[in-house]
Amino acid sequence: MPDLHLDGRPLSVALGTTVAAALALGSDGSARTSVSGQRRAPLCGMGICQECRVTIDGLRRLACQTLCRDGMQVETRP
Ligand code: FES
Repeated sequence: MPDLHLDGRPLSVALGTTVAAALALGSDGSARTSVSGQRRAPLCGMGICQECRVTIDGLRRLACQTLCRDGMQVETRP
């Protein structure tokens, strides 16, 4: 059961949970803020739309293509 931090808050998820699913479980589900200030959320769930970009351990990643790992730091805000 991976324990991660989502925007600084601790969150435990089941093994095999994607970061996109963790966003839905541990927050309002949004992944980032657009240039116009709107919050954006995962849309396609298969690596196409790029709406699920988050920062994971300091690197930009697609939340829908990334499995949660123990100790992972996920940031949805700049
Ligand atoms: S939800 Fe579309 S790329 Fe991740």
